[in-house]
Amino acid sequence: MKVALIGCGAIGEVIAEAIANKKVKAKLEYLLDSNREKAEKLSKLFEEKPKIANSIEDILSSEVELVIEAASIKAARQFLPKILEAKKNAMVMSVGVFADEDFYERMLTLGEEKNVKIFLPSGAIGAIDALSSASMEELYEVTLTTIKNPKSFGLELKERKTLFRGNAIEAIEKFPQNINVAVTLALAGIGIKKTKVEIIADPKVRRNMHRIKVRGSFGEFNFEVKNEVSPKNPKTSYLAALSAIATLKRIVSPIKIG
Ligand SMILES: NC(=O)c1ccc[n+]([C@@H]2O[C@H](COP(=O)([O-])OP(=O)(O)OC[C@H]3O[C@@H](n4cnc5c(N)ncnc54)[C@H](O)[C@@H]3O)[C@@H](O)[C@H]2O)c1
Repeated sequence: MKVALIGCGAIGEVIAEAIANKKVKAKLEYLLDSNREKAEKLSKLFEEKPKIANSIEDILSSEVELVIEAASIKAARQFLPKILEAKKNAMVMSVGVFADEDFYERMLTLGEEKNVKIFLPSGAIGAIDALSSASMEELYEVTLTTIKNPKSFGLELKERKTLFRGNAIEAIEKFPQNINVAVTLALAGIGIKKTKVEIIADPKVRRNMHRIKVRGSFGEFNFEVKNEVSPKNPKTSYLAALSAIATLKRIVSPIKIG
């Protein structure tokens, strides 16, 4: 599959490395980054070098079948409609862009009209497969509890403290750094208004923890992940970058698990 990558930062680098090392059967045709040097650095990983795009138009007019966005919410908002219009599939890492329900509906309709797919990797969390299955019937509760070191919130605390308890909409407004995880969970589950969020600062934790509790007519499950941060970007969990590779692998493989 011919792919293009927008965003050559922490996640983009892990994706490019996986393709260059043939972990995934895909051919990287184009790299695009507002900082051209970052794209040039990644192109050096390849024997057969991908082209550096001057603008999104280079990618849209090419034979690329899948465009991977790993840049920013602003970039996703700007580029996704163009990618779909050009009848190309998309993988979106900046899932937070779909906190805008209007934008989500417009992209859903556009994807249907153009007969293309939009893939949203599970990112920094897991159990999205079980939540999707559970959501086929009634869900009573979906709660996300995020526990991070106070420094992640710019705080110095000696004791554990609950910073927030409310729904995902308010959580995103007050703690935008949690936006991708909250939106992924909301989209797979019961929507952004009904998804409950709790945010805790705890000086004893080093890794970013996410706990997911789901109750529904299927029964209930609990999921917990303790994420190491990406060696390239302390704001990004390494698992999020790995989820992009796993999604790409699922797309190109004839067998799709989960
Ligand atoms: N889904 C998840 O769970 C999850 C987890 C972590 C990060 N993310 C999101 O994925 C995205 C990438 O994360 P990262 O850690 O790799 O970030 P990063 O800052 O390390 O890299 C982003 C790269 O994109 C480039 N860029 C930004 N805006 C651009 C634009 N308009 N056009 C072209 N290039 C642009 C930057 O120059 C940079 O090189 C972010 O939006 C982040 O919030 C999602």
